[in-house]
Amino acid sequence: MGTERPRILLLGPPGAGKGTQSENLVSAFDLDHVTTGDALRANKDMETEYGTPREYMDAGELVPDPVVNEIVAAALEDADGYVLDGYPRNLSQAEYLDEITTLDHVLFLDVDREELLRRLTGRRVCPECGKTYHVEFNQPETEGVCDACGSELTQRDDDTEDVVNERLDVYDENTLPVVEYYRDQGELIEIDGNDSPDGVWETIQSTLE
Ligand code: AP5
Ligand code: MG
Ligand code: ZN
Repeated sequence: MGTERPRILLLGPPGAGKGTQSENLVSAFDLDHVTTGDALRANKDMETEYGTPREYMDAGELVPDPVVNEIVAAALEDADGYVLDGYPRNLSQAEYLDEITTLDHVLFLDVDREELLRRLTGRRVCPECGKTYHVEFNQPETEGVCDACGSELTQRDDDTEDVVNERLDVYDENTLPVVEYYRDQGELIEIDGNDSPDGVWETIQSTLE
């Protein structure tokens, strides 16, 4: 009792399993899941001075920094412990994050590009509760139906092969420098994310102990 909840940053390419492992971290440590991707998907057609998030997301491009910085600042203000997923995605976001919070753990889930393509094109998501599945690697009990809430599963608009390739390129160009940024600070904990979901979770647990 009275123990502080950890503030965890989960870095990794699209499809690395950030959302999947965040679910585990949230249950294990009673954390808030702060994820810019989910927040933006819930507000895809919101008008901003830069246009709507959809215009960027469906093309696999980054939504402009001021929009995502505001989402993260608001979410972290209310959070005690959290797992941050999908942010920061470029150096300027990483510098902004430094100004507004202090991290306890920086985890980097690394996965090979071919495996990422398989994971993303086979992903299915619950539009109601956000739970993530995979047609081969993480099947629901009944095909096409969410175990948690019974809703019909759908595919994300940006999980087509073309957009996935663009997202991976955007990651290499903008987000790999963020990985280097934390590595240079000596804070980065590298985790092999090519293993099964349970295997990766065991690795994460043992590094946090
Ligand atoms: P976002 O929603 O953050 O997408 P992403 O980073 O591309 O990551 P994903 O959610 O696709 O993958 P994940 O790592 O969560 O993997 P998951 O656990 O689902 O961002 C979407 C868009 O929003 C961006 O393109 C951008 O436009 C915008 N955006 C978001 N944040 C932004 C920011 N900070 N700045 C600017 N723009 C921003 O797993 C993937 C699949 O694999 C699932 O099917 C899962 O079941 C399966 N799986 C998971 N783990 C394993 C495993 N170990 N083995 C086998 N299968 C596995
Ligand atoms: Mg995700
Ligand atoms: Zn559901």
